[in-house]
Formats: sequence, structure tokens, C-alpha cells
Amino acid sequence: MISGEFSGKLIGIMNIENQKKIAAEKATESVQSNMVVGLGTGSTVYYALLKIGDMVREGLDIVGIPTSAGTEKIAIAQQIPLATLAMHPTIDLTIDGADEVDKNLNLIKGGGAALVREKIIANASKEILIVVDESKVSRVLGTTFPLPVEIVRFGWEATQTEVNRISGKSTLRLTSAEDGNQHPLITDNGNYILDCHFDGIPDPEEIELRLNNIPGVVENGIFVNRADKIIIGTSSGIRYME
Ligand code: 5RP
Repeated sequence: MISGEFSGKLIGIMNIENQKKIAAEKATESVQSNMVVGLGTGSTVYYALLKIGDMVREGLDIVGIPTSAGTEKIAIAQQIPLATLAMHPTIDLTIDGADEVDKNLNLIKGGGAALVREKIIANASKEILIVVDESKVSRVLGTTFPLPVEIVRFGWEATQTEVNRISGKSTLRLTSAEDGNQHPLITDNGNYILDCHFDGIPDPEEIELRLNNIPGVVENGIFVNRADKIIIGTSSGIRYME
């Protein structure tokens, strides 16, 4: 027998999954043959990868450039032809997710630990569509999601001390290993991630620059002035911010 509380939670999860799916599938309507497409990372973009896979099998002629090893694996399984930035330095369209978005289209990204490659791909893209469910929309960035900052492993404690001068506090991201123990998460680039707990980031442009100025910081998850359109899946359909 399923309890009322459990079935309520299940309906909530199914609703969020549906919001992710409709947003991601809407974004794929902008993908056309002969495009170089940036392939983002995460559980929302996953639905776009499935759809693009269907489109490729029906004759769509594109190449994708993945933002993570995880996305590369999914894209290969979906038979999406892949390329590199060396082959195509300019990307026509990127579809990516986000952890938090504000009304000025600024983003926090990196929940999936792919922020460095995501920012490189974003920087090379002519157009960027961000796909989210409605829970990601926030009045002030940094109030609902900790800001991920990728740092090199050498001297990471010293880097964290400097980062904390800006954020207040941060935690080293851990992951469960096969031995059942928790270990620091290692990114696709061989680095660590600090999750920084701000009480809000009202000045994202300034914080993005200040964090990246610390020796040992590779990149942070603030994306300012990069998204062209945010496609939001809601319980009553699609909403846009552009
Ligand atoms: C990965 C990202 C993701 O796009 C972000 O974490 C959103 O993921 P999801 O769609 O699973 O919520 O930035 O680094």
C-alpha cells in the first residue's frame, strides 16, 4: 500500500521530470541540419540528447560537441556524430541546463561538475538555449543552489581559504566510490570542486571575476550574459525568458 505522503512525493518528481522533458524537447526544435551543436550536461539536457538521437536516426545531419565525458557517452549511445572544438571552433547552437537562473538570464551551473567545459563551449557558441524546470528560477542567484568552483588539487586547502573570503563558506564536493567510502569528486579535467554557500549573489559579474582571480581557481559556475533564451518547463506548459 502506497502512503499518501509517498505518492504525493512521487507525483512531484514525475511533474519535475515532465517539466525537464518538455523544456529540453522544445529546445531541440531549433536544431537544424548542417549545424555544429554544443551538447550540455545534466538530467534535463538528457531528454534533448534522446530527442536529437531520434532526429539523427531520421536523417538530421549535425555534429555535436559534448561538454562532459558523461554527455559524450550518451551521445555515442544515441548515434549522434561527434566533433571537437579543434575541428569546429565556432558552435552554431548549444543546449545546456542550469542549476539556478535569474530574470537577467544569469546562471549558476556546475551541479554536474562540468562547468569548465560548459563555459568553454558557451564561449564558442553563437546561440545558447538553457533548459530548466520551474524550480530553477530564482530572484537572486546563490540563494537556492551553492556555487560550484573548480580548483586544482595542488594546495587546494589554501585555495579554499581564499575562496571563503568571498563566499563565507564552502565544502569540498565528495562522491561515493565503489568501496562505499566518500572521496573527493574528480572532474573530467582532474580537479576538485568547492560548493560555495553564499547568502545570495546580487553582483554575479563581480563575483565571477573575483573568484577567477584567485590562484588555484580554474573556473566558477557563474555564467553572466551568455544565455540567449531560457526555456522553462512548468506544470502548465513552456515559459520563456529572453
Ligand atoms: C552540469 C550543469 C547542469 O547543466 C546543471 O547542473 C543542471 O543539471 P540538471 O538538469 O541535472 O538539473 O551545469 O555541470
